[in-house]
Amino acid sequence: MCVSKAGRLVVLVSGSGTNLQALLDASADPSYGARVVAVGADRDGIEGLVKASKAGIPTFVEKLGNYPTRADWDAAIAAKIAEYDPSLVVSAGFMKILGAPTLEAFPVLNTHPALLPSFPGAHGVRDALAHGVKVTGCTVMLADAGVDTGPIVAQETVPVLPDDDEAVLHERIKTVERRLLVEIVGRMVREGWTVSGRIVRIGNQTGGEST
Ligand code: GAR
Repeated sequence: MCVSKAGRLVVLVSGSGTNLQALLDASADPSYGARVVAVGADRDGIEGLVKASKAGIPTFVEKLGNYPTRADWDAAIAAKIAEYDPSLVVSAGFMKILGAPTLEAFPVLNTHPALLPSFPGAHGVRDALAHGVKVTGCTVMLADAGVDTGPIVAQETVPVLPDDDEAVLHERIKTVERRLLVEIVGRMVREGWTVSGRIVRIGNQTGGEST
């Protein structure tokens, strides 16, 4: 897998798109090295698509329900992403598992509001809170075919406070998550990365590669 230095990002969203907005804000500075060339979603009517449109970024929506099979949707979203020739796809609150057509064609970075491998899935914040953890956080990882199982690129911790509910804790995590995602995407596109087994290293090479 080789990644050009062009830093063309396709960002996938399913909700409010605050991680997307953080990437849009960072890429306003040319020295960041990456720019969002398209935003994709699996549903209409979400704030993430509004944020993309306000920034003048092309958008596309591929709804699973519009395809006879999951495999057809997998092929369709991969084809749509390919139209924008990204060097990196960022799944930023995209609440679908991407299939082989996308994962085999592009490196995909994912972000999750918990310290993986604990609390994967759609309710990472709720599940961590219910478990009674005192520290949680966020994880940026390369996507694979599993649910939040890919090689971990970066993590940061966030405290759980006694009166937290899911929304309050998620907002505290997202403040850290946005900064971490922006930092890691920028470093990956500027410095490249390698993957050896589950170990991801950023820097000291001209492009991303898997071993
Ligand atoms: C983020 O916290 C992201 O980690 C989470 O959705 C939120 C999206 O926020 N993703 C998952 O839980 C995926 N398992 P945003 O739409 O404001 O960027």
